Amino acid sequence: MSNRRVFLKSALALAAGLSLGVHKASAETGPFPSNIVYTADDPGQWDKKVGTHAPQVTVADGKVTIQTKHPMSSAHYIVRHTLVGADGTVLGAQVFTPEDKPESSYDIPAKGEYYATSFCNLHDFWVTKFTV
Ligand SMILES: [Fe+2]
Repeated sequence: MSNRRVFLKSALALAAGLSLGVHKASAETGPFPSNIVYTADDPGQWDKKVGTHAPQVTVADGKVTIQTKHPMSSAHYIVRHTLVGADGTVLGAQVFTPEDKPESSYDIPAKGEYYATSFCNLHDFWVTKFTV
């Protein structure tokens, strides 16, 4: 590839990044730019999608339950939930098909901080931090 092509590709990538509003990481999203990992407080380009994409966590009856209040169809659905420890260890996961309800339950872990994740096939990766 010629230097000119490399330059043009780099310039296009930079322009695309700027037009998408790439900005620095927040405390909620760790080291990633906030347009890669979304939270209710920092929904980035998906600010109208918080209610149907940010995972909701309930701790009761010996279980942590993660729910995503998202419609499910073959074209648009929640793909997976995970329960992740503060150190990044995945403590549980549930994969969904379009026919499933996007809800998963896990045994209550030890007291501490955790992350619930939910991935939409169209609206990316969402995280909710919570404490047990
Ligand atoms: Fe979605």
